[in-house]
Amino acid sequence: MSRVLVTGGGSGIGRAIAQDFAARGHDVVVAGRTLAALEETAQGSAISCRAVDVTDKAQVDALFDAPFDIVVANAGAGTAMRVRDMPLDVWQNTLAVNLTGVFLTFQAGLREMGAGGRLIAIASTASLKGGANIAAYAAAKHGVLGLVRSLAIEVARDGITCNAVCPGFVDTDMGQAAVTNVMERLDLPRDKAERMVVGGNPMRRMIDVDEVTAAVRFLASHEASMVNGHALSVSGGEI
Ligand SMILES: NC(=O)c1ccc[n+]([C@@H]2O[C@H](COP(=O)([O-])OP(=O)(O)OC[C@H]3O[C@@H](n4cnc5c(N)ncnc54)[C@H](OP(=O)(O)O)[C@@H]3O)[C@@H](O)[C@H]2O)c1
Repeated sequence: MSRVLVTGGGSGIGRAIAQDFAARGHDVVVAGRTLAALEETAQGSAISCRAVDVTDKAQVDALFDAPFDIVVANAGAGTAMRVRDMPLDVWQNTLAVNLTGVFLTFQAGLREMGAGGRLIAIASTASLKGGANIAAYAAAKHGVLGLVRSLAIEVARDGITCNAVCPGFVDTDMGQAAVTNVMERLDLPRDKAERMVVGGNPMRRMIDVDEVTAAVRFLASHEASMVNGHALSVSGGEI
């Protein structure tokens, strides 16, 4: 059984990934800023909870008091704002959580990771294409892919892989926040706003967290040993 870390494990995609690994008998730790949310993920299972802000190097380093076999850098946050309106702190905070957070998590995770280790980032279709109002988020998520593709080459000879999963709109708090943003900006009812949000997905629906989890499970598997530096799109064919 593997020891697994999932950052941002207190909600949405991270919660589903953590519960999936735990259900398969792995030893799982979830990390995030809100302990109560992490404890909700852990309810009825042996999942351990650690409060951490992934933008803080000391806090991230402290998470790795014992080695992990699988590190899932999932913590992230969306920002919807046009570049011309964007204060510098919004830009910097978006990069800090979505990009620097992944760097700090992978760097610390690598220190004691052995052969067979897995580094997996939850990136986004915004890692593969841009979009109006998401410049900071897309820049950070493109950066994650640059990090993943480069680190994959650095760790290959150690028998470790580093990959990214790139989901389109997933039905989580973050996905619903994107719908709310469109509702407010364009003064639309929720159903119309949701149709607009998923309009870029050829399957015309939100992605389920379990569909993202399945991609993570594959990349973490022994069978995926030769998949390295890959961006696995889970987007219904969007990109
Ligand atoms: N939902 C989508 O449509 C979608 C699409 C593509 C990619 N993604 C990516 O998937 C990942 C998970 O998103 P989600 O949809 O599950 O959203 P979510 O429910 O909002 O989850 C984000 C998680 O990240 C944690 N987090 C945020 N900032 C943090 C920080 N500084 N330190 C530690 N933890 C932090 C949050 O917990 P705390 O606030 O308690 O810390 C939360 O548990 C993100 O990287 C997101 O960019 C989402």
